[in-house]
Amino acid sequence: MADERRVRVAVIGASGYTGGETARLLADHPDADLVFLSAERHAGQTIGAVHPWLRNHPDLGGRKLRPLDELPEVDVAFACLPGGTLPQVLPLIAAKAERVLNLAGDFRLADRAETRRHYPASEAVDEKFAYFVPEFSTDLGAERFVNLPGCMAVASLYALYPLLCDDLVEPRIVVDAKTGSSGSGKGTGEHPAERAGNFRVHRPHGHRHAPEIRQALAEYTGLEPELQFSTHSLDLPRGILVTCYSQLREGVSTLEVKRAFASAYAGKPFVKVRTAPKRPQDFPMIKAVVGSNLAEVAVSVQGTEAVSVAALDNLVKGAAGQAVQTMNLMMGLDESTGLPTTAVGP
Ligand SMILES: NC(=O)c1ccc[n+]([C@@H]2O[C@H](COP(=O)([O-])OP(=O)(O)OC[C@H]3O[C@@H](n4cnc5c(N)ncnc54)[C@H](OP(=O)(O)O)[C@@H]3O)[C@@H](O)[C@H]2O)c1
Repeated sequence: MADERRVRVAVIGASGYTGGETARLLADHPDADLVFLSAERHAGQTIGAVHPWLRNHPDLGGRKLRPLDELPEVDVAFACLPGGTLPQVLPLIAAKAERVLNLAGDFRLADRAETRRHYPASEAVDEKFAYFVPEFSTDLGAERFVNLPGCMAVASLYALYPLLCDDLVEPRIVVDAKTGSSGSGKGTGEHPAERAGNFRVHRPHGHRHAPEIRQALAEYTGLEPELQFSTHSLDLPRGILVTCYSQLREGVSTLEVKRAFASAYAGKPFVKVRTAPKRPQDFPMIKAVVGSNLAEVAVSVQGTEAVSVAALDNLVKGAAGQAVQTMNLMMGLDESTGLPTTAVGP
């Protein structure tokens, strides 16, 4: 790509977990120039001082984090801020950025009452954001403002979409989502000594990703199943594993279910269907996706029971990688540019 076509990008909130990860991906993106990194409390420090895993990158490690009001003109700003912050600083960002990709939840929900409940600061904002999942949303058009999905929401969508798209299951589904500790951001109040060696409930009911999943399923499949969504906290820095329990509609065969998964993700470079898992390690798992922009999905059927599973890295496919994938699509680049397809193990 000629230099004049390189995309000028900014990461707003680069001292946070998703912002740091977005900077990591963009620093090695062949068609992007990372021109600005913002921080609030950490402004003035280098990104390598805040995120030691970035300190040895030759261009990125020594770059200073700047206050947001120094934002220069950019093609794309990645907003990686705590929920409720972008609604306050959107005028400043919109004045400088051609397009804004929001990783926070502020503008995911269309329903006013749900927005008031889960994202109260967003109500006063007039700008419309398009909700975008690269695998399901068909037209990004010339949208200036885009809101990316929640990490547990999108993992759940990957596990559920083929079942509902082809109307294969009864409309009552239980979704059990488990997430690693980076999911709550750098400012979480939980002491590591209490998180380590533990596995606990996070939200049995009322998680804000539940209305998002319902809304997205209605938009992408035309169905609005009854959904019971509970979340759990894992003692892992990264990773989400979602398990969905449903009942096949009468007459639906295992083969139909398997075919629905294969066809839903055919040609989708970042959602990998585990077609015939037999051993436990053949199923989607966190170790197979951490560090990559991949989601793994699979379904197991016995009698009328369907158990569908998805795994992804909350900071990559659940956040920064999803955002870079979206930027690629917006800017007419190859969807996969600059995105890792192998995990880090063991
Ligand atoms: N973590 C995940 O797995 C994940 C996945 C998907 C989506 N998300 C969403 O992405 C957003 C960011 O999450 P995160 O985990 O990266 O959060 P985080 O680690 O807490 O980072 C937040 C960032 O925002 C900056 N910031 C805070 N208040 C600000 C203000 N008033 N003005 C300007 N900058 C401000 C912080 O700067 P200082 O630290 O320098 O103050 C930091 O860089 C959240 O809304 C979250 O819901 C998170």
